[in-house]
Amino acid sequence: MDPFELLKADHRKVEQLFSQLESASGKQKLQVFDQIKTELELHTHIEEKFFYPALEEPEETHDLALEAYEEHDVVKKLLKELSKAKSATDEWEAQAKVLQENVEHHVEEEENELFEKAESALGEEELEELGDRMAAEKERKLSSKSSKKSAATKSASKSASRSTAAARTRRKSSKKTSKSSGSKRSPSKKSAKKR
Ligand SMILES: [Fe+2]
Repeated sequence: MDPFELLKADHRKVEQLFSQLESASGKQKLQVFDQIKTELELHTHIEEKFFYPALEEPEETHDLALEAYEEHDVVKKLLKELSKAKSATDEWEAQAKVLQENVEHHVEEEENELFEKAESALGEEELEELGDRMAAEKERKLSSKSSKKSAATKSASKSASRSTAAARTRRKSSKKTSKSSGSKRSPSKKSAKKR
């Protein structure tokens, strides 16, 4: 898969969401922001896991790749700050605007400089492979996210239906049995963040 097409499609999607954010009002703003956050987190993840490491080595893309990591860090900090908000105040909107400008600058630099240099630094085969890996990782993340979501919904409705005293007793006894089998669970996912 062409990695540039994949990343550009992500960029266009985020641009669209930012324009939705501008026209949204009240609580809607926070909902659109949530979508922006999800998209950006996924996008920065696949770039940092596959794309940038491949671009760190060639001399012509080395500096731009390092700069891109730094720009991602700024975006992540802003996302973290913005996600704390309970309502979209004027200050929040100002910070969201700064986020948008940072993302726009980053996208421009990637599309007008980094992609071109990446194309000449890496072979066609390597690029195709990178594109495939990024697409697969995106798929994997998206499906684990949706299965987590449905598991959370299930367990929430389960616990709601078990609110009687009798159910509480049942749960207590089942806790004991699940404790012993709980240790057999696979080890917690280790963070594969590579910098
Ligand atoms: Fe990026």
